[in-house]
Amino acid sequence: MAIEVVPLAHALGAEIRGVDIAGVVSDADIDAIRKAWHQAHVIVFRDVAWTPEQHCTFSRQFRELDDHSATPHDQLEGFPELLEVTNKPKNGQPSQTRNAGRNWHSDYSYTNRPAAASMLYCTEKPPVGGDTMFCNMARAYDDLSDKMKGIVADLQSVYDFNLVSGTAKRNPAKMAELLKLNPPIAHPCVRTHDESGTKALYVSERTSHFDGMTRSESAPLIEYLCAHATRPENVYRHQWCVGDLVCWDNRTTMHLALGDFDQNHPRHMLRTTLQGKKSGYVVAPAEV
Ligand code: SIN
Repeated sequence: MAIEVVPLAHALGAEIRGVDIAGVVSDADIDAIRKAWHQAHVIVFRDVAWTPEQHCTFSRQFRELDDHSATPHDQLEGFPELLEVTNKPKNGQPSQTRNAGRNWHSDYSYTNRPAAASMLYCTEKPPVGGDTMFCNMARAYDDLSDKMKGIVADLQSVYDFNLVSGTAKRNPAKMAELLKLNPPIAHPCVRTHDESGTKALYVSERTSHFDGMTRSESAPLIEYLCAHATRPENVYRHQWCVGDLVCWDNRTTMHLALGDFDQNHPRHMLRTTLQGKKSGYVVAPAEV
């Protein structure tokens, strides 16, 4: 049966049908999925029932996997290539990821190996809410005027782990360790996708400033670019079902995990992170 690609929104997002990703997936099907992914930026598979090993095996067919050493406390025990995004207690303690992803971002932008892509699998969800929103950063770049494209082409976005949402509620000792592991790092504000050649904006609510500019000089432009990228017509909102695997391209999208649900209900997800190319340089903190 041929793979079917069903669009989910105008700006981005497609559901992929007609392939059992828990089984052996042929090279031809992987190529077809990759092509659809490059076009839609976010792809969704439904009714996936698999083990952590199968999740990793499928993910590895696209790219080498990150071992999540930038956030070691969030690894699934025994599976460093799987990150737990959960509001369920971990080792008797509140989970460090219970409020993860609550601002617009691209995964691991605060490291020197920003994630190429991520594959998030839902095992438990609240009865309502807990949605994830995605926006198209390639479209956001294309929609800028030529003058603004010229301005952003010269900028380096600095990412600061202090701006990672949920960090305020992290255990202070773990937070200090994470800040040491992840000092502020600058990446180009416009990035060219290493597989498709697509240009996209690379700035987010985790960008503290542009290198060489103060925070107050940078803030209006960061705010404008984020508002421009996250206009409702540039967004796909995913309402989760257990068994969904949602895969996003971090080189051409940002995402936001909404906290619009009752935390008394479990929301449990497992994520593989497809490693990106090394990028960026460490910077000193900027003037206010
Ligand atoms: C993430 O930012 O990787 C988590 C997204 C989510 O929990 O919806």
